[in-house]
Parts: sequence; C-alpha cells; structure tokens
Amino acid sequence: MVRQLVDLHQRAIRYLRVSITDLCNLRCVYCRPPEGVKLVTHDDILRYEEILTIIEIARDLGITKVRITGGEPLVRRGVVQFMERLLSMPGIEDVGLTTNGTRLAAMVAQLRTIGLRRVNISLDTLRREVFAQITGSDALDTVLEGISAALGAGFNPVKINVVLLKGINEGDIPGFAKMTLDTPVDVRFIERMPFGPGEALNPPNPFSAAYALDMIREAFGSLEEVDRDSLAGPARMFRIRGAQGRIGVIEPVTGHFCGTCNRMRLTAKGTLRPCLMSSREIDIKKVLRSGASREQVAEVLRFAVRAKPAGSHSDHCLEPQEGMNRIGG
Ligand code: 5AD
Ligand code: SF4
Repeated sequence: MVRQLVDLHQRAIRYLRVSITDLCNLRCVYCRPPEGVKLVTHDDILRYEEILTIIEIARDLGITKVRITGGEPLVRRGVVQFMERLLSMPGIEDVGLTTNGTRLAAMVAQLRTIGLRRVNISLDTLRREVFAQITGSDALDTVLEGISAALGAGFNPVKINVVLLKGINEGDIPGFAKMTLDTPVDVRFIERMPFGPGEALNPPNPFSAAYALDMIREAFGSLEEVDRDSLAGPARMFRIRGAQGRIGVIEPVTGHFCGTCNRMRLTAKGTLRPCLMSSREIDIKKVLRSGASREQVAEVLRFAVRAKPAGSHSDHCLEPQEGMNRIGG
C-alpha cells in the first residue's frame, strides 16, 4: 500500500486536525454571534469510536500528526479517555490539543498523565475587561492559571494563539511579547480571517502580523528570526534577544501559507474539509455509517485530499462561511 496522501499540488498530507465538538463555553466575537449558532444534534456528532476509526485509516495513508480542536474540546465528555487512546495509537507520532484554556487548570494533570505534551491555548488579550468584551466571559484568570499549570506540568511546547483584532487588542501585543522574555511559551499572532459569524467586525481587518511585529520591535528592539522547526506549521518564528520563549506570526491574510499546507480537517459532524478557506466539505460519516469497508473510507480520504485547492487565492476560497467552532481552526 502506498502510505502517502499527496494532493494535486504535490503537497504530502500528514496532519489531520479533528474538531470533536462545536460546543464552546466562550462566545468569541469573531467566532460566534451572541444569539448563538445552530448546533448540530447529538446523532450528527461523530462518536469517539468513529473518530478513532477515521484516524486509524488516515494513519494507514500516511497521517502522523493529529490535533484535537473544537469548539472547545475539553467540554466534550470523555475527552481524556479518547485522547488517551489516540496517544497510544501506533504510527501517530504527534498529538496536540487546541483549547481556550478555561478547563485547562482543572484537567492538566490528567492530560499530562495520559502522555499529552503539546498544547495550544487561544488567548487574545491579557486585560480582564477586554477578555470579557471578546469572549463574553470573565474567565481571564482561569485561562492564565491554565497556562501556568500547563507549564508547571511540563507541557512543551505551550503555544498561545492571539488573533489580531483591530481596535480591540493592539494594546496587548507588547504584553504578550513580554511574556516570552521569562516564560518558555511561543506566542503566535494570527491574522483574523475574514469569515465566520463575527462579520460585525468589519472586514477587511487591516491588522496585519507585520504591524504587530513592528510594535514589538519598537518596544523590545530587533528580533532574530529563528529557524522554522518542522512542528511550527505555517508560523514564521522570532525571538527577542535573550528571551526564553518565541514570537510567531501566522499570516493567512497577507502572507502565503498555502504552499506548504500539509493538513486536512475532520469536523465534529463527520465531514472532511480539504481547505480551511473553502466551505467545501466531504461527508465521511455517511460512508462510515453505511457499513463501508475500510478501503471505501480510505477512498473518501484520498478524494478529499485530491479536492484540496492550490491556495486561498484560488478557486472558491475565502467565501463567507460559518465560524471556527465548527471547523476547528
Ligand atoms: N481568524 C483567525 N483565527 C481564528 N480563530 C477563530 N476564528 C478565527 C478567525 N476568523 C482561532 C481561535 C483559535 C483557533 C482555533 O482559531 O482563536 O486560536
Ligand atoms: Fe470558543 Fe474558540 Fe470560538 Fe472562542 S474562537 S468561541 S474559544 S471555539
């Protein structure tokens, strides 16, 4: 068997991002409208068993890296047991978790015990009022405790993902940069992609990652660009002189991060999403539940990989679409 998923643009797909729930205990302005989003019903959501089967089949086709996302993955019941099984799956070399951090302090010990090492925490501000304004929740301290707990428990890397929000969190950029001085965290600034129900945010958002880097240089002096490691994904990474942690920028809007795209997404309701920027989805749950053979499920994965567009500036990309709670970032 050819253990390779290669798309039509010669990109080898090795990385599967799996959203295990579209539920979330926060309401970030750019992700979910205050009135709530239409949630998929219980039966529509893939069972853990089904997710593991899909991952196993994907593994046999060459996927080695899996990231669990949401919504907020830590709100789904049974997530620790599920991740334990994933962590012990032969051939899956790298398992990560993306979380909003609200449940992290409470769960970090269990997560460490089952062998998880990598965690990405979404946090857009260090100011309590602004946190409440962005997320609708007064949980900043809980998230900060979660970050400390993750570092204390030996998670490595600990990455903090900051979505750049014009007019909202510019003032936080230096504070986040400062965190890297004496804390071994990677803070990554992400350009807000112009989609999701938070369109009230007035696109196009002119807050570029380059501008955030300029703000940091102004406050901390020149930055050294550090080698992209193979795990950094699409981020360009920098370091303030002498700092323990690193600063990264992810530039889906102004940059070109599609050329090296090595990923596929599985949504909580059981569709494969070949490209973050395109609303095209392929229903793998239907095939799985119809009693198809593993080979038939594998064919759906291959098909989805062939459906990956060249990049976000091609074909049907950047269409207005639903929030990250469904797609998983
Ligand atoms: N643009 C960029 N990042 C986004 N996220 C959610 N919506 C957007 C958007 N429109 C981020 C979250 C989290 C990750 C899962 O995706 O903040 O870091
Ligand atoms: Fe929840 Fe993440 Fe969406 Fe915020 S961006 S509402 S934390 S799923």
